[in-house]
Amino acid sequence: MTKPQIWIATFLALFILLFLLSRLTKDAETDQTTPSVDSPVPQTDMSSKNLSAKDLMSKLGCNTCHGTEMQGTKMGPSIQNVSKYWSRDKLINYLRNPTSFADTERFQKFEEQYPGMIMPAFSHIEVKELGKIADYLLLK
Ligand code: HEC
Repeated sequence: MTKPQIWIATFLALFILLFLLSRLTKDAETDQTTPSVDSPVPQTDMSSKNLSAKDLMSKLGCNTCHGTEMQGTKMGPSIQNVSKYWSRDKLINYLRNPTSFADTERFQKFEEQYPGMIMPAFSHIEVKELGKIADYLLLK
């Protein structure tokens, strides 16, 4: 092979390698996605009990608005440090009926920051399960 031919062969090999690598990582990513991620509507089917708080939250669609690490998205604020603002009981009550807490300055800011987005009420979820979520969030 001439020198330019060797160069072309090397580049081609590198290109194919990168392509294969990107395919591999893509597959790994799609494996991890949960079914609820693409729907902002919280799922109401609570057939599987004994879920961890984290699984419960992805099932209910919290991640869609609050992010997979609760870091916040364009659709909802971060809920990584809610212990700053909520006690366990209050937080459970909040999850059951968010609008009744919406009159503080903090929540008025949320309204401006996330126009049109409303934190859905989870009153159809058992208090025990909400307690699990509250415990998890308060420990963050
Ligand atoms: C449709 C989007 C959406 C979903 C789904 C959602 N939230 Fe929210 N959440 C919001 C928005 C927007 C706010 C800001 C307050 C408001 O606008 O009502 C909020 C506020 C909160 C707060 C108060 C944050 C603070 O600073 O006090 C908590 C806690 C919370 N959400 C937890 C949850 C949990 C837990 C779930 C799942 C069970 C959930 N959210 C699902 C959009 C959502």
